[in-house]
Amino acid sequence: MNSFTYDYPVRNYFGEGAMDQALDAEMGAMGKTVMLAYGGGSVKRTGVYGHVVDKLTSAGKRVVDFGGIMPNPTYEKCQEGAALARKEQVDFILSVGGGSVFDCCKVVSAQAMLDEDIETFEHADGKMPSSFIPMGCIVTLSGTGAEQNNGAVITNEETHVKGAYLGAMPMWAALDPALTLTVPHAQFMSGAFDTLSHCMESYFGSPRGRNVTDDINLAIQRNVIRNMRIIADDNQNLEALSELVYDSAMAENGVLKIGKSTDFQAHMIQHQYGAYTHTNHGMGLAVIHPALYRHLAPEAPAQFARWAREVWDVDAKGKDDLTVALEGIDRLQTFIGEMGLPTSFAEMGSDASDETLHKIADTCVLTGGCAKKLERSEVFQILTECL
Ligand code: NZQ
Ligand code: ZN
Repeated sequence: MNSFTYDYPVRNYFGEGAMDQALDAEMGAMGKTVMLAYGGGSVKRTGVYGHVVDKLTSAGKRVVDFGGIMPNPTYEKCQEGAALARKEQVDFILSVGGGSVFDCCKVVSAQAMLDEDIETFEHADGKMPSSFIPMGCIVTLSGTGAEQNNGAVITNEETHVKGAYLGAMPMWAALDPALTLTVPHAQFMSGAFDTLSHCMESYFGSPRGRNVTDDINLAIQRNVIRNMRIIADDNQNLEALSELVYDSAMAENGVLKIGKSTDFQAHMIQHQYGAYTHTNHGMGLAVIHPALYRHLAPEAPAQFARWAREVWDVDAKGKDDLTVALEGIDRLQTFIGEMGLPTSFAEMGSDASDETLHKIADTCVLTGGCAKKLERSEVFQILTECL
C-alpha cells in the first residue's frame, strides 16, 4: 500500500430518525441565517421541506430558500447560490437531497467566500479555497456518497465540461434510509450502481495486489450486489435500503481509497458524456463499465480475476486469469440488465453522433491510476461500443 494520512471530519447520523437527531444536535451551531438548499421539488412532495422549515423557524432561524438545483448541477446555478448566500449573509447551508444538491452547495459555500471566480481560482490558477460557509447534508437519495467528501462535479454549459471542484467538506450528514423510500425505483438503482462503480474504480486503482483496503472493498461490493437484488424484487425493503445507504457512504468516505491511487476512468468518461448529453450519472456508468473493463482486463488480469472470483463467484478452476476476468465482466453486464439498468446508450434513450463522441473522447480526463493510460482513440472506441 502507499503511505497515507487519513482524516475524516464528517459527523454521520445514521438510521431511523437521523434527520431530527442531526438537526436537534447541530441547530445551535448553525447561526442565525440558514440557507435551505434543495432540488426540483421532491422534498416538498415528501413533506421533508415543511418539516425542516418548521424545525428551523421554531429554533428562531431566518430561512433563505435556494431551490431548483437540477440533476447534474450547472456552474451558473452555483453562481446564483453564491450570490444569494452573500446577499443574505448566510451563516449555514442546509443541503437536502442527493449528489446534485450537495455538490452545488459545496461550490456555493466556497464561492460565496471568494472574490474571484472559483473556476479561474481552481482550474486556471491551481489554488484551493480555504474558507467556506459551513454546511450540513440531509440525504434523501443515496448512491453518490457526495455527503462524505468535499469534491463537487459541476457542469459548465458554456465550455461543455463536467469537471471537479473542491468545495466545502460537510460538517455533518444525516442518513435516514426511510427518506429514500420515495425515490423512483430506476433512480434508486442508478444511485446504487454508482456506489458499486465507486468501489470498482477504487479497487482497480493502483497498487493492485492484496491489501486490507481492497479486502474491505470486495466485501462492500458483494453487499451492494446482494442488496440491489433484494431491492429489485422489493423496492420498499427498508433493511436493504439501509445497507445501500451505508454502502454509499462507505464507498466515498475515503476508506476504500486508503493507500491507493484510484482509477475512476469510467467516471471521467461518463462525466464528459453527461456534459454533452445531460444524461443520468449512474445509468451512464452502467453502460460504460463493461465496455471499458473489456479493454482494461488484459492489462491487469490478476486483479480482474480476483474480483471475478470473489465478487461474481466465477469458478476459476483450469482457467487462466484473463478468461476468469472476462467471465466476471460478463456477469457484471448480466447483473446490470437484471437490475433494470441500461446496457447501451440507446437503451438509456440517449443518442450521440460520431462528432459528439469524438469531442467527448478528446476532452475527458485520462486517469493515472487506471490499469492502462488510455489513448483518446481508445476512449472513442469504447464509446462506440456503448452505443
Ligand atoms: O430534484 P428533486 O425534485 O429533489 O428530485 C431528485 C432528482 O430528480 C430525485 N430525488 C432525490 N431524493 C428523492 C428524489 N425523488 C423522490 N424522493 C426522494 N427522496 O432524484 C433525482 C436525482 O437526484 P440527483 O441528486 O441528481 O442524483 P444523484 O444523487 O445520483 O446525484 C448525481 C450527481 O452527483 C454527481 C454526479 O456526477 C451527478 O452530477 N456525483 C458526485 C459525487 C461526489 N461529489 O462525490 C460522486 C459521484 O461519482 C458523482 O459524480
Ligand atoms: Zn459516481
